[in-house]
Amino acid sequence: MRGGVIGTGNRGTGHVGTLLTIAGVEITAVCDVDGTKAANAASLCEKAGRKPPKVYSGDATVYREMLDREKLDAVIIATYWDSHTSIALRAMKNGIYPGIEVPAALTVEDTWKLVETSEATGIPCMMLENWSFRQDNLAALNMKRLGMFGDIVHCHCAHSHDCIDHWFFENKTGDKRWPAEYLLKYNRDQYPTHSVGPIISWMDINRGDIFTEIYSSASASKGINAYFKREFGENHPNANLNYKQGDIVTSLLKTKSGKTLVINYDMQLPRPYSNRWLLEGTLGVYDEEKSSIYLRKSSPKYHEWEPWKPYEEKYNHKWWQADLSSQSHGGTDYVMLNQFVSSVRAKGPTPIDVYDSAVMTAIVELSGISIEKNAPVAFPDFTKGKWQTSKPYFAMDKSL
Ligand SMILES: NC(=O)c1ccc[n+]([C@@H]2O[C@H](COP(=O)([O-])OP(=O)(O)OC[C@H]3O[C@@H](n4cnc5c(N)ncnc54)[C@H](O)[C@@H]3O)[C@@H](O)[C@H]2O)c1
Repeated sequence: MRGGVIGTGNRGTGHVGTLLTIAGVEITAVCDVDGTKAANAASLCEKAGRKPPKVYSGDATVYREMLDREKLDAVIIATYWDSHTSIALRAMKNGIYPGIEVPAALTVEDTWKLVETSEATGIPCMMLENWSFRQDNLAALNMKRLGMFGDIVHCHCAHSHDCIDHWFFENKTGDKRWPAEYLLKYNRDQYPTHSVGPIISWMDINRGDIFTEIYSSASASKGINAYFKREFGENHPNANLNYKQGDIVTSLLKTKSGKTLVINYDMQLPRPYSNRWLLEGTLGVYDEEKSSIYLRKSSPKYHEWEPWKPYEEKYNHKWWQADLSSQSHGGTDYVMLNQFVSSVRAKGPTPIDVYDSAVMTAIVELSGISIEKNAPVAFPDFTKGKWQTSKPYFAMDKSL
């Protein structure tokens, strides 16, 4: 696979490292508006004994030259959020598979453009939602597909990750990084894809069911100001700025067949990391935060939890046969990129398709509209009815 990487900051450089460990991948071009970052990514390839990739650097549109000139099979897009869609659209129009970092777009309109361009060009479009590929989530998916939870009725998930002290802002100086701008301008679920990624397969979204509406509500915004007061003093400019973004956003989504899902955005308060995944059906419940499970037919004690780990081992997904724990995100990034690369090399469908990418992505803008209106908002059917006949597809594991 001849691959390119656009946006070689933290995440993009990580992807370069992971791609270098996957057999059959040649990184032939890298691009970043910051020439030092692009050169650094190129040097990683050279250090790994590969041919140096062509380096593209310049203004925010320099990626166009790379996509138009280089004969690429796929491109990884790990730039700021505002350029994901335009880069992916150009890639597809040039016959290049885009692997887009999260979220794939910022508006529903742009999300539709991704869907329609993928359909028109026949080029699959995958958002790189790595938590869909986690070992625990895939084991739960295997169990769900074996019918062990019965009919799925309700799920919960969260992105509970204090990112004020490092990602939205620089950790030592408190200077703002590019994502901080979004906290000033918007009040919405800014980052729903990590939490909802595994859930859409647990709930058969786009494969027999669809989200019909989303109703979101936001708490007050106190965490950002409090952080700056605490860490940098009352007079720090960010201690008194008026951030639009509420600290906790709670979204309630309903599906056509009557399932419900609650998603929490929770990235501004001091707390340990958690995704709080919960999968609940007519025969049992899996609670990721408790690392526990209860199955009505087989759990030894009536209405008492049992440990999850033995189930994760027993229903381990076929993608998780090797010990990958030393790799980034515990091997999840490798599993995801390896599957993406395999699909590109086979010129086949990507593990996450454009419809699943669209559903996860659209929550960003839709949650904001719902908060603003204080009312439920209809969820678009990006499949245009195909959900009624499409069969479950992501991570099918016939080994069990
Ligand atoms: N899946 C995950 O676990 C995970 C983790 C972190 C970040 N991310 C996602 O990765 C993306 C990048 O985040 P990051 O933390 O690496 O940010 P970053 O600031 O470290 O890197 C972004 C890079 O993109 C470059 N860039 C911006 N616009 C560009 C353009 N038009 N053309 C070329 N280069 C451009 C910047 O110069 C920068 O080097 C975001 O979408 C973020 O949400 C995902």
